Amino acid sequence: MKLILFGMPGVGKGTQAKILAQKHGAVHISTGDMLRANIQNGTPLGTMAKGYMDKGELVPDNLIIAMIEEVLSSAKAKKGYVLDGFPRTVAQAEALETILWRANVPIDKAINIVVDEEEVVRRLSGRMTCPNCGAIYHKYNQPPKVENTCDSCGHIGLIQRDDDKEETVRHRLEVYHKNTEPVLQFYRNKGAIVDVDGGKSVEEVTASIERLLENARA
Ligand code: AP5
Repeated sequence: MKLILFGMPGVGKGTQAKILAQKHGAVHISTGDMLRANIQNGTPLGTMAKGYMDKGELVPDNLIIAMIEEVLSSAKAKKGYVLDGFPRTVAQAEALETILWRANVPIDKAINIVVDEEEVVRRLSGRMTCPNCGAIYHKYNQPPKVENTCDSCGHIGLIQRDDDKEETVRHRLEVYHKNTEPVLQFYRNKGAIVDVDGGKSVEEVTASIERLLENARA
């Protein structure tokens, strides 16, 4: 499986990417998770990225492209990948074309998950993540089995992301419309993207994506 997941912040890219990557033995490549890991580990990249992320701004293209090139050129990406949160600008999309061609790992499908904007704000304001393994929950939609405890790794103490405050979410949505919507058009012009209704349950959205992948293989 070689897949790109698009969509506004909060549509469920990370949730679906984790499920699909695990099921199909692919690598889940989330630029957001990679940046947050760099911040947690105090790397120079993390220090540079933090200011942008806290404000809901995009991290500069050159930093993101170098980071993604390394992982897509690795041996594990050859077995399959799910890209989540990249590309987010036309410059990133153009760079991705070259990276995929050089690494010889072309995409099978690009999927745009579509959710109503107010629903996205509701989802992000209730999101909780595990700081240990990155598992994603929601206070009401997808609570963990035991309160404040990660179902996947048992870590106690789920957190709310700093950029999930409503004001920052609204700014991230503006940034999405300005910088990332043109990327969708870039892929639409190539006839390479399909929309999926992300307003349904997590299981139904996974099933819709799986059906599209089946059709692409048929
Ligand atoms: P990033 O981490 O990529 O954030 P994002 O794209 O804004 O997306 P989110 O992670 O917020 O949402 P999601 O779509 O993954 O939804 P999720 O599955 O969690 O980026 C963060 C920052 O890093 C950016 O602002 C930028 O600064 C920087 N950055 C990252 N990549 C970059 C790049 N390429 N270039 C430049 N800068 C970059 O779900 C959300 C909630 O909804 C959860 O609570 C979940 O449980 C719930 N949910 C999911 N699906 C459903 C469903 N079907 N029904 C009900 N609830 C659901």
